Amino acid sequence: MPPPTSRHAWPGTPTATDRLLTAELAAATRRLEAAGVASPRTDAQLLAAHVLGVPRGRLPLVREVPADVLDRFWDLVGRRAGRAPLQHLTGEAYFRHLTLAVGPGVFVPRPETEAVVGWAIDTLAAEASSMPAERPGPVCVDLCAGSGAIALALADEVAGAEVHAVEADPAALTYLRRNVAATGPPVRVHAADVLGIPTGYGPVGAWAQVPVLDGLAGLVGRVDAVVSNPPYLPDADRAVVEPEVGRHDPPWALWGGGGDGLAGPRAVAAAAAALLRPGGLFAMEHADGQGAAIRALLAAAGGWSEIATRRDLAGRDRFVTARR
Ligand SMILES: C[S@@+](CC[C@H](N)C(=O)[O-])C[C@H]1O[C@@H](n2cnc3c(N)ncnc32)[C@H](O)[C@@H]1O
Repeated sequence: MPPPTSRHAWPGTPTATDRLLTAELAAATRRLEAAGVASPRTDAQLLAAHVLGVPRGRLPLVREVPADVLDRFWDLVGRRAGRAPLQHLTGEAYFRHLTLAVGPGVFVPRPETEAVVGWAIDTLAAEASSMPAERPGPVCVDLCAGSGAIALALADEVAGAEVHAVEADPAALTYLRRNVAATGPPVRVHAADVLGIPTGYGPVGAWAQVPVLDGLAGLVGRVDAVVSNPPYLPDADRAVVEPEVGRHDPPWALWGGGGDGLAGPRAVAAAAAALLRPGGLFAMEHADGQGAAIRALLAAAGGWSEIATRRDLAGRDRFVTARR
């Protein structure tokens, strides 16, 4: 084949309308910064990597960007400046070793939840090391599973685990089933109402048709670990949450109910108490101001030992652990 006669002869080569990526990234960073986005440079880079279909680390190798790709980039920058969550724009969220599909209608998994599931993974591994090798893997349940972050991490990282994920919201269930199908390790999905309480923020009337312990009757008293990130925010936080959260996460994923946000965690603790075998483990995320109240509600419910508040990387109370 003869060599091309002009630089435009090869598909994908720059044209007169192509623009230098570094200049576009700098302009996008300024726009996101002005909109109050917390990490404007990183977000601009991640959006550019997304539209270009390259890992972020390869951006320095890209100089010029075709006009149509640039149009898509600026459309996403505009939506991010409107405070749509970055993960809704790229369609994916990273959680431990997993990449999960997310979007409007499902809670975006958070880094702090990685520590909650990490505690359960480490504790189950330590317990397994003192058990006979032929013992079956642990039975684990993720209550309020959302996109499946906790359940899928357990299935991915706990050898031989039998993992169940319970979620009520139909939109979240769509993402959950999609992530289970795409990720590989088996997770059984249950459409059931874990809380069974009118939080006032979600279509609880519809969900209440499938009470959790009906759907999980076969698991009552035989679960080795329940791990949960339930809705727990107190009403007082409604005035202070970032727009990405308040406008885009489903309200029933956020607000715990009862004013102090503890109705959701209390209901999850009750479901965990019924599901766990004697000696089974419980880990539940909560808000940074709820450590003492959550320890007190477990103590008041009775039947729990080793109740402890654990901290996140920023040193804030972040989750409770206990043994049945
Ligand atoms: C804070 S989000 C956590 C999602 C996921 N576990 C994570 O960490 O990314 C809470 C989840 O609880 C679900 N949820 C709210 N009320 C529920 C109920 N009554 N029964 C079951 N799930 C519920 C929401 O739909 C949402 O997916």
